[in-house]
Amino acid sequence: MGAITAFIAVIILILIPLAGAGAVNLHFLFGVIIPYLAFATFIIGIIYRVVKWGRSPVPFRIPTTAGQQNSLPWIKQNKLDNPSTTLGVIGRMGLEVLVFRSLFRNTSSELYNGSAFAHRWEKWLWIGSLAFHWSFLIVLLRHFRFFATPAPSFLHMIEAFDGFLQIGTPGLFVSGIVLLGAASYLLFRRFYIPQVRYISLTSDFFPLFLIIGIALSGILMRYFIKTDIVSAKELIMGLLTFNPIIPKGIGVIFYIHIFLVSSLFVYFPFSKLVHMAGVFLSPTRNLANNSRMKRHINPWNYPVKVHTYEEYEDDFRAKMKAAGIPVEKE
Ligand code: HEM
Repeated sequence: MGAITAFIAVIILILIPLAGAGAVNLHFLFGVIIPYLAFATFIIGIIYRVVKWGRSPVPFRIPTTAGQQNSLPWIKQNKLDNPSTTLGVIGRMGLEVLVFRSLFRNTSSELYNGSAFAHRWEKWLWIGSLAFHWSFLIVLLRHFRFFATPAPSFLHMIEAFDGFLQIGTPGLFVSGIVLLGAASYLLFRRFYIPQVRYISLTSDFFPLFLIIGIALSGILMRYFIKTDIVSAKELIMGLLTFNPIIPKGIGVIFYIHIFLVSSLFVYFPFSKLVHMAGVFLSPTRNLANNSRMKRHINPWNYPVKVHTYEEYEDDFRAKMKAAGIPVEKE
């Protein structure tokens, strides 16, 4: 049910610019106003989320520990899986963000032949996620040739690698195809694996359908339904320099592409996708486990009236002595 709702939602998101920019010619609305509003929502939304996380008190060290902690000198510490220094935290966070290290260790639990229970190393989700996130990043970086004149020099290198297959004109970029393939695989596993299907919600399907829609519209625009790329760049540069214009020759496929991207931008800060920023603010990941070396005092500690042992002994010394209980002060 969740999948159908999400699918219909994305179809509606495609129909809106198709009607609005394709049939009714509301080009300024779809080419300028909506992208501006979407981008502003994205920035403000992310700032709001980050500030809110940043203000949450973290009174204790609660890092996820996945290896031997730093303790006695002859016990070997696992510096990455149980970091006790900032450098260790940076190492662990870096590997987590760049290669999804914790996902790499993912295991699945299954019953074999109806009775044998076993854990199995599950690598396909890790491979699919890596392919998805890295291709997304590369596609996004490649888009900088629309956002900067002249195109930044690092782009030439990326484009040379990404276009190494040298198929057709315009040259095929592998990352666009990998993005589409990986997002489709991530969607497929939500349908195919019963346990994953059971826990999948509309909010899991929607971003996948949306990103597939973005990749498909981009691929259609580049290779099949051509739009005037020079005009597209003029429009984008107009947006960036706050001199918005709608040049001639921009096809409806471009409006569909940026409307879907705008939808993603609006959705991003308020959905699970915000893990992109959240991973850095997660106390289970960004704290060093140095609880044995440093005493962390709960900042909310308020003065409490205590009854010390010395006072206790003063109160009961005579009775303690009479009962033969040793005392500290005679
Ligand atoms: C979430 C962000 C975005 C994603 C994932 C995305 C994805 C894609 C993909 C996969 C392609 C196919 C060609 C390729 O592999 O490069 C493409 C093409 C294109 N995208 Fe995007 N896009 C995004 C944002 C944008 C934005 C913000 C704009 C402009 C405002 C834009 C404008 C274009 C244009 C003009 C093309 C055609 C490229 C060509 O003909 O060479 N895209 N996009």
